[in-house]
Formats: sequence, C-alpha cells, structure tokens
Amino acid sequence: MSEKRNEKRNAVDLSHHLSDIAKALPTQTFPSAPPPGAISLDGGVPDTEYFPIESITVEYLKPSAFPLKPTDALPHGTGVLGWIANVLTGKGSRTTEAPTGQFVIPRRLQANDESQFELKSALQYTPITGIPAIENTIRDWVARVHKPAYNDCKTLIDLGASCAWSSCLTILLNPGDSFITDRYAYNAALLQGRAKGMIPVAVGTDMDGLSAIDLERVLASWDEKTRGSKRPRVIYTQGGIQNPTGLLISAQRKKDIYDVAVRYDLIIVEDDPYYFQQASAPYSSSAARVTKKQTDEEWLDGLVPSFLQFDYEGRVVRLDTFSKSVGPGGRLGYYTGSPLLLAKLGILHQAFITFPSGFSQAIIGELLHRYQTEGFTRWLRGLTGQYEMRRNWAIDAIHKAMDVKPRDNWSRALTAYVRTDGQMTEKFARTTSLMSFVPPDGGMFIWFNIHLHNHPRYKQLSQQTSPAAAKNQLSTELWTTMVNEGVVFRRGELFAVQDDEERAEQGEEDVFLRASYSSGTKEDLEKGMNIFAAVLVKFFQ
Ligand SMILES: Cc1ncc(COP(=O)(O)O)c(C=O)c1O
Repeated sequence: MSEKRNEKRNAVDLSHHLSDIAKALPTQTFPSAPPPGAISLDGGVPDTEYFPIESITVEYLKPSAFPLKPTDALPHGTGVLGWIANVLTGKGSRTTEAPTGQFVIPRRLQANDESQFELKSALQYTPITGIPAIENTIRDWVARVHKPAYNDCKTLIDLGASCAWSSCLTILLNPGDSFITDRYAYNAALLQGRAKGMIPVAVGTDMDGLSAIDLERVLASWDEKTRGSKRPRVIYTQGGIQNPTGLLISAQRKKDIYDVAVRYDLIIVEDDPYYFQQASAPYSSSAARVTKKQTDEEWLDGLVPSFLQFDYEGRVVRLDTFSKSVGPGGRLGYYTGSPLLLAKLGILHQAFITFPSGFSQAIIGELLHRYQTEGFTRWLRGLTGQYEMRRNWAIDAIHKAMDVKPRDNWSRALTAYVRTDGQMTEKFARTTSLMSFVPPDGGMFIWFNIHLHNHPRYKQLSQQTSPAAAKNQLSTELWTTMVNEGVVFRRGELFAVQDDEERAEQGEEDVFLRASYSSGTKEDLEKGMNIFAAVLVKFFQ
C-alpha cells in the first residue's frame, strides 16, 4: 500500500459505485460547442445586448482588513469611515493601506481591462464547468492548498455544499442504500439523505473524529438481513472542523479512515466548509494568549490536510464552499474529485440545476483574481482570527458564569459545576457536574454535553416512562426555558443519526446542545452564555 501511496497515478475506476440515476444520465454534456466560425442558431440564447445591466462596481475589503491578532469586535463598518474608526480605536487592521479596493465588471471587456469577467458572458448561459477564469482560479487554488495525491484530479463549480451533497447522494446511492457518518452529523445532510430514502449509519466518534476502528468493525460485521440494507459504500464526514462538535479530525485519523475506505471499497464525501477556520491555538483561559509567528504561506501549509492529500485512488469527493469565506448568499462552491465522478456530477447539474449564478461567478471570481492566492490566504487567516477570538469570548464567559474544571488528566474536555456562591449546597456545587464540553478546535460551534444523568428527576422519570422519554422530556424543558429566557441554542437531537431509543439503549444518558459563536456582539454572546448558565443551574435544582 505504501508503494501505491508514493507513486502518483490516475484515479481508479469507481464506476461500479454509480447509482441508477447516474447510470441513466447521458455520457456527454449538451449541447456540444459549435465548430469555430459556425453561425449557431441552436439554443434559446438571449442576445447579450438585451441584458439591462451595463456594469457592476464592487467595493471590497482588502485581504488585511482583519488583524492577525484581533482583540476586539469586527471593524465598525466597511469603507473609509469604518477603517478610520478602527484605526482610531486600535480595533481593526493597523496598516496604513487603503481599507478597500474597487473593481468594475463591464458589459464587455476591453483589451487593457484588468478585470477578467464581463457581463456579456457572465449573464449568458455559462458552461457547466463555470466561467473559464473562475474555473482556472479554483483549480490552481486546490492544487496549491490540498495537493491531491493522484494525477487526474478535477474540480467542478457548484451551488454550495448543500447542493453538492444532494448531488453526490443522487449519483452514488439508490433509495434504500445506506451511508456511514459520525454519530452526530450535520443535520441538513442527514435530512437530505433521509428525504431521498437513504439510511445514515452511525459510527463511533472520539475527539479525533470518526473512529477508523469502529468504521472497520461496522463494515466487517455488516449483516444485510439484520441491517435491512446493503453494506454502505459511502462515508459522509467533515474533513476540517466538524459541525456540530467543533472538533478537528487529525491527519493520522484521516489516513486511517482512508485506508479502511480502500480496503472496503468506499467513497468518502468530505464536506468541509470550516477547513480554513482551524484555530491557531487551543483554547486557553490564561490571559496571555500566544499567537504563533508565521507567514501566511506557513499558516496555509500548517493546516491539518484534507482527505485529498491521502487520496491516491480518487475515492474522495471534496465539497468546498464560499459560504463561510465570502458569504452564503453567493451560493457558490466547488467539488474536487475524480474525472468520472465529476463528469457525472456535471451532467446531473446540467439536467437539474444548470449552473451557479453568473453574478456570483463574476463577482467572487473577480474578487479572487484581485486577492490572488496570497491575498485570499491572508483574508482567510484574518477571518479565522475573528472566529478564534469569538470562541475565546464564549468560553471565557462560561468560565465566569460557572465553575469550570478539566474533566480528567488526559483529555481536553472541561466540566462545569455551579459556582460555590450559595445558589446550591456546597456539596452539590463540588460534586454534581452540570455539563461538559471540549473547547472547539475552530469553526463556529460549541457542543455542550448536558449531564442529565445528574439531574434530580432523571432516574425517577426514566423508571416511570423510559430513559429515552425521560431524556426527551427534560431536554425539551431545558431548551424551552432557555428560549423563554432569551437564548436559542440548537438541540443536539437534531444531529443524531440514531433515534432516541437506540441511543438510550446504548447507555447514552446525556443530551447535547450546540451553541454558535459565529456572529453578533461580544455583549450578546456573553449574555447568551450567562443565560444558559443561569437556566442550567435552575434546571438542576
Ligand atoms: C457541515 C456543513 N455543510 C454544509 C453547510 C452548508 O453550506 P452551503 O452554504 O455551501 O450550502 C453547512 C452550513 O452551515 C455546514 O455546516
């Protein structure tokens, strides 16, 4: 195997993984390009002179808009006024560089235009593969960042990760097929799979992500009759920071999972919106937070590699999105994968969703062109600093509101107790943990494990009804009280692959809540955490 790993080859043939729909799709996109010089009277293509938009002027933030060591909230506003305010208050970037740049996307490009996009093409039907300029940028970016381990790896533009996962399900699985995922996985991804009649199967996870050992156990012991479906052929997981847990799969774990995928002939769909949000340092409650000194290039190279770097056979379909780096409203992302799978995805797109908005392709494409690789890297690094700062604010607030201690000597998990300030008896405060969590490795979420097993009514309730019903009742009570008190977290049950009974049978007594620290003011974030802590203490009384 290590020989195969060292020698860079083309993707292996994985056509046996295609679904019935994928097999029924034509093998070529349509229509084919007219021969050079031919007058094409072929399609219902509007004359570009009829497009009412003459040009689009975009004012954008420069890559260094956010400082590498942020100490406070986002800049006051965009543009020169916001920049002056930030410089005066010392909050934003301290550079003297003008804060914003500007570009124009004209109706028609002239020979000396710096822009790469024109509305004449962007607002026309564009190729499934994207406007060539953005296609090239994305291909070069993937080669620079992810360094796929086989030769003929391709990229393909799409409408963001949600749409991309839906398309992957369509070309890889038939209704009734199952796919493997983490015990708690992105709720919308589960919803899509279930709505298409596919069955998510949970594999054990730990702080390094999906367990390669448990993955192999599930596959090796798969029994079609008892399971009611064929052995899964697809894994859905997140390569970078996980949603909902906020944790990062280590490089070694990715390699181990990949090796199992080769042994059992699996395809890995790596949905990875938070890849660039890997925090520069683990959370530390100490005031002196050190930021590593490194160049932007070193920062990019220091990120835990994606599955693509281990993929020497073309078994990974990676889903990237601009939702978390530019804006979800752009509805723009891209796949990276083998020629066969990406060709099928392209033809599927042509049949069902056509292509991403030309406005988005032109604006985001031109932005990337202005940033260049170095600038986009700096931009991503600045954003990551912002999210890291927010993570620290959220956890600092929990530390203030509760008595937070390391859970044990070997893990990064923290356990929270009520403060010994007379709200509860001294003994309760010292011995009864209310919740625990692992400070996220980055991303946008904290995953709180609420210790229902310590709740005064849990045992009695579960004897009267069932453990699953008791959990459900108490967790509804907690969540509803929080909402009534003014803070909304997302219930962990929404991310569960297994149902309430199954989880309870496996001895899972606790429930989870996911809190997002990705937006809003510091004050609101702290207030939200304070409400959570106060409601939790009352709930356990
Ligand atoms: C894991 C995961 N995948 C996909 C998405 C959606 O991405 P997109 O906006 O590109 O559809 C999200 C958004 O929260 C997410 O957390």
